[in-house]
Amino acid sequence: MKDQTLLDYYARRAAEYEQIYQKPERQIKLALLKAYLIKLLAGRDVLEVACGTGYWTAHLAPFTRSMLATDASAEVLDVAQAKAYPPNRVRFEQADAYALDTVTGDFNGGFAGFWWSHIQKSRQADFLKSFHGRLQSGATAVLIDNQYVEGSSTPISGTDEDGNTYQDRRLADGSRHRVLKNFPTEAELRGVVGEAGADVRFVDFTYYWCLSYRLA
Ligand SMILES: C[S@@+](CC[C@H](N)C(=O)[O-])C[C@H]1O[C@@H](n2cnc3c(N)ncnc32)[C@H](O)[C@@H]1O
Repeated sequence: MKDQTLLDYYARRAAEYEQIYQKPERQIKLALLKAYLIKLLAGRDVLEVACGTGYWTAHLAPFTRSMLATDASAEVLDVAQAKAYPPNRVRFEQADAYALDTVTGDFNGGFAGFWWSHIQKSRQADFLKSFHGRLQSGATAVLIDNQYVEGSSTPISGTDEDGNTYQDRRLADGSRHRVLKNFPTEAELRGVVGEAGADVRFVDFTYYWCLSYRLA
């Protein structure tokens, strides 16, 4: 089941979303993360979950064999589809990350960028079941997201009874939104993936983390 508040927020934010990738203090680590992702996913048929405006789709597509980029929001998919991609390599489908059985194709790579932080802790296992269910055995799965860095990250404004954290965010149109944004530790991530993943690797890019593993 989708979180409609989150979807509405990203639909409204679509036009300004990629400004987040312009933060000056993050540029070196962002470049290192981009290079690392290419190494992990090059030559693969990749299922991308919650692709948003296609920032990572456009980055990875030239190096992958194929990509199916999915998101639950039609508004962000419109922005993603307007970008330039290598011919006949990228498809788009509207899909709920928790119900990926609707998507078509065979994948030996899976990728989700900046999606994990928006999953309620109680739903993380559900998402992984959906995600892993669409990937071939032995596929490489890659998750990236933010680490909390004082002075660079939006402050955390609240925590609920399950330990999920929230930020108060403002869009260019002046609207204010309370957005779920979790900052997991390496141990938490390893714990949730559990025995589903082999060769689990966590890499710290200061502002970002990357978790990769082979689907057991
Ligand atoms: C932080 S954005 C990440 C976008 C993109 N992956 C990136 O890193 O630039 C989170 C995305 O999750 C999408 N989303 C929210 N709920 C979803 C759901 N249930 N299934 C799939 N996508 C969802 C939003 O539409 C939004 O595009």
